[in-house]
Amino acid sequence: MSNRVTKAVFPVAGFGTRFLPATKSVPKEILPLVDRPLIQYAIDEARAAGITEFIFVTSRGKSALEDYFDSAPELETALQEGKKHSLIETLRQTDMDSGAVAYIRQQERRGLGHAVWCARRLIGDEPFAVILPDDVIDAETPCLEQMIESYREIGGNMVAAMEVARENVSSYGILDVADSVGSTMRVRGMVEKPKVENAPSNLAVIGRYILTPKVLENLDSMKAGAGGEIQLTDAIAGEISSSQNVHAFRFKGRRFDCGTKSGYLQATVAFGLARDELRDEFLEFLRSAVDTEVPIPAARAV
Ligand code: G1P
Repeated sequence: MSNRVTKAVFPVAGFGTRFLPATKSVPKEILPLVDRPLIQYAIDEARAAGITEFIFVTSRGKSALEDYFDSAPELETALQEGKKHSLIETLRQTDMDSGAVAYIRQQERRGLGHAVWCARRLIGDEPFAVILPDDVIDAETPCLEQMIESYREIGGNMVAAMEVARENVSSYGILDVADSVGSTMRVRGMVEKPKVENAPSNLAVIGRYILTPKVLENLDSMKAGAGGEIQLTDAIAGEISSSQNVHAFRFKGRRFDCGTKSGYLQATVAFGLARDELRDEFLEFLRSAVDTEVPIPAARAV
């Protein structure tokens, strides 16, 4: 089995109920941070890490995602005729090599583990990455690239990890770790969405994984875990005692939980401020918005 990681799975089958009504007709992964959809950030991170095959686990109502990675000849012609060269360049970000993208449908929503299992035939007998596009990570060296670098030395299975507030542990896969060497820690146990009182720590799994095909075999048993769903965390935990150890990787970077409204808004502010062309005007607005002496009236919600 080669040690190179060239395939990444993007589970994108969820309803995105937290963003209804927008997600009634627009997949959550197409929602933009400034002007780039969440999925574009995930793809760019995968590319930077050397991924060349992109596997999307989708569901009904997600065809906008397929269109996003397709060519758009009418649009390109119109931009060319209008000599909009920089916009043509912008569109290039969405170009994917022919045959590099595969879509597989998860017919029933049975959990993250089940979604990844749906891609098993496309993954085959190789180590692979999983990226959850909800978790957007702003980092000098993209998170998955940091992990691959470390994975090359230690192999096995690896999950991205960071500390979360104790009261939020029940929203995450939580790790019990032993000794750490640099950024990597040996995992002794992991539990999906524990109650605060049962959590072994406040070190949470964040949506970046490098996994061995053995994890897919563990998913074959289809055992339901937390929330009655087939959990990826449980399938990875099944490898802890085997020789294919599990490592947690403490990445350098800032993670935004774009699966929640608050995290999504925070990411919008952070990525908006990072844009030279927006920064000054946006900063001025933000300053006045929080200035209690001259408050900007809140926008009407509905
Ligand atoms: C998933 C995983 C969980 C992980 C989290 C990170 O949960 O099941 O282990 O900690 O992503 O974002 P979800 O957010 O899909 O409920």
